[in-house]
Amino acid sequence: MKVDFINSSYRRYYAAHKDQILKALDKCFSKGDFVLREDVDKFEKNLADFCGAKYAVGVNSGTDALKISYKALGIKPGDEVIVPSHTFLAPIEEIVHLGAKPILIDVGEDALMNVDLLEGLITEKTVGIVPVHLSGKVCDMPRIMAIAKKHNLWVVEDACQALGAYLGKKQAGTFAATGCFSFISPKTLGGAGDAGGIITNDRKVYEKLLLLRNHWNITQNALLGHQPKAPKIMDWGYNSRLDNIQAAILNIKIKYYPAMLRRRRAIGMKYEKGLKDLPIELPTQQPQQIFQEYIIKVPDIWKFKKFMQSKNVELLIRDTTPNHKLPGLGLEQFDLPVTERIAKELVRLPIYPELTDAEVDYVIACVREFFAPAKKAKK
Ligand SMILES: Cc1ncc(COP(=O)(O)O)c(C=O)c1O
Repeated sequence: MKVDFINSSYRRYYAAHKDQILKALDKCFSKGDFVLREDVDKFEKNLADFCGAKYAVGVNSGTDALKISYKALGIKPGDEVIVPSHTFLAPIEEIVHLGAKPILIDVGEDALMNVDLLEGLITEKTVGIVPVHLSGKVCDMPRIMAIAKKHNLWVVEDACQALGAYLGKKQAGTFAATGCFSFISPKTLGGAGDAGGIITNDRKVYEKLLLLRNHWNITQNALLGHQPKAPKIMDWGYNSRLDNIQAAILNIKIKYYPAMLRRRRAIGMKYEKGLKDLPIELPTQQPQQIFQEYIIKVPDIWKFKKFMQSKNVELLIRDTTPNHKLPGLGLEQFDLPVTERIAKELVRLPIYPELTDAEVDYVIACVREFFAPAKKAKK
């Protein structure tokens, strides 16, 4: 048996929904609907409804969702923003691109921002906090929001890995000024390439996001029926529109999204049950998380990867050097013991809704063979 990390997901999803996808593409081409047309409008409504937010804005990536959120909230050169190092680099990168300074915070054993350390990092230059809801788990938002309120800071949620995860009655992305999502293909709601979105409950922020994603230009936003008040003064915006074709494709997938999340959860539970007695550390879980990834901690990741490769199981290992230790980024001064330790131990097992039970069982059997070699995996 062969189990790849993600590509079968794309192929199988396409095979199952080909007619709808081709019909949607045909509609875009036939009508000439490519830039800020009705599918974008529809997707923004779908995204806002799904999250229980008032407004959503489609943008071209999760990275731009972060950048545009920072801009809308008024980030300036020299400002300090607190963000974990243990994350995909984008939320840090965009702080730097805007001339501000990322202040890196360590994570706890659950790989989420260690909120106990937060107040100690706030200075007179701090303007914002960026919690990252990594691997489908939500940071301690009630505490983060309380600290932000006390110190008059904005908060942008990086929920790129957590669309549909809840903490209590609220969804990831709905606690702060904005919630940012990525719809790049490997994400739980993945499009055909790059795509992103922002949600907010604040009308003024929403209007700024609309302007920022489209060169501070209201004309094309007006095509969608969103007519932000004509700005009295101009500002510098970006080209960060969500392509209409992407939106059309995402509008199909979002219908199946709750079922896809349930299937991911079932696979996560299967891994949990099948691996729990082995000498590896399984991911900590939150009851209402989503399963964007299933990351285990193993002592010798490269030996393990090689063994799994010999069994035709593809794993993903990345970030073995924590972001703040990457040469050339100028972040080496941060000392983040948990981040530095766990970066070397993390391995991602395949988890996508299209995996069959037999494939998941095979992955489990192979992992068991490596760690408990007495029982051999069936081919
Ligand atoms: C936590 C996190 N933040 C930001 C991003 C950036 O999203 P994108 O790749 O769509 O720019 C990603 C995803 O790749 C991510 O996982």
